[in-house]
Amino acid sequence: MKTVLITGTSSGYGRETVLYFHSQGWNVIATMRTPRTGVLPESDRLRIVELDVTRPESITGTFDAVGPVDVLVNNTGVPSISVFEGTPMARVREVFETNTFGVMATNGGSPEESVPAPYAPWVKKAMDDFTGQDLFTKESDVAETVWRAVHDTTGRLRFPAGPDAVWLAQAK
Ligand SMILES: NC(=O)c1ccc[n+]([C@@H]2O[C@H](COP(=O)([O-])OP(=O)(O)OC[C@H]3O[C@@H](n4cnc5c(N)ncnc54)[C@H](OP(=O)(O)O)[C@@H]3O)[C@@H](O)[C@H]2O)c1
Repeated sequence: MKTVLITGTSSGYGRETVLYFHSQGWNVIATMRTPRTGVLPESDRLRIVELDVTRPESITGTFDAVGPVDVLVNNTGVPSISVFEGTPMARVREVFETNTFGVMATNGGSPEESVPAPYAPWVKKAMDDFTGQDLFTKESDVAETVWRAVHDTTGRLRFPAGPDAVWLAQAK
C-alpha cells in the first residue's frame, strides 16, 4: 500500500485531495499547521501531523517522524490577488516563503551531495552543452538591451540580451 504526504490539508484542495487518496486505499499523512480533529475522518490509514512549511525545524521534525513516503503533494499555498505595485512587501515575502521556498524546503536536498546520483547524467549533458556553446552574450549586448528596454514603447516585458539569450527566447 502506498503512502502519500499532503501538505495544507485543513481546508480546500488539500483536504479534498486527502479524502480522494484515502478513498482509493492509500495511506495518507495529512499535514496542518494546527492539527485538529473533526476536519478529516478517523482512520488507521490517515495520520494527521503538524507542519508549517515556513519553519525548517517543523519540516525536519515532520519528515523524521513520518519516515519514507512514496509521494509528496505540496498543496500548501497562500493567495495573492492584486497588482504587484499594490501588494505590501510583507505579503510578497509571505507568499514566496510559503508557495516557493516552502515547496523547495520540503523537497530538501543534502548539502553533502550537491548533485544527487540520479541527476548526474543530466547535469553532465547540461554542462557539456554549456561549455560547448558558440553563442555568448557580451557586456555591451546587455548595456544596449537595457537601453532598448528603457526606451521601449510597445509594452513588451521580455528583452533577451545577446545571441544566446535571443536563441533561448526563440526556442520552442
Ligand atoms: N490557480 C487557481 O485558479 C487557484 C484557484 C483557487 C486557489 N488557488 C490557490 O491554491 C492554493 C490552495 O487553495 P485552497 O482553496 O485549497 O486554499 P485554502 O483552503 O486556504 O488551503 C490552503 C492550505 O494551506 C495551508 N497553509 C497555509 N500556509 C501554510 C504554511 N506556512 N505551512 C503549511 N500549511 C500552510 C493552510 O493551512 P492552515 O489551516 O494551517 O492555515 C490551508 O490548509 C492557494 O494558494 C490558492 O491561492 C489557485
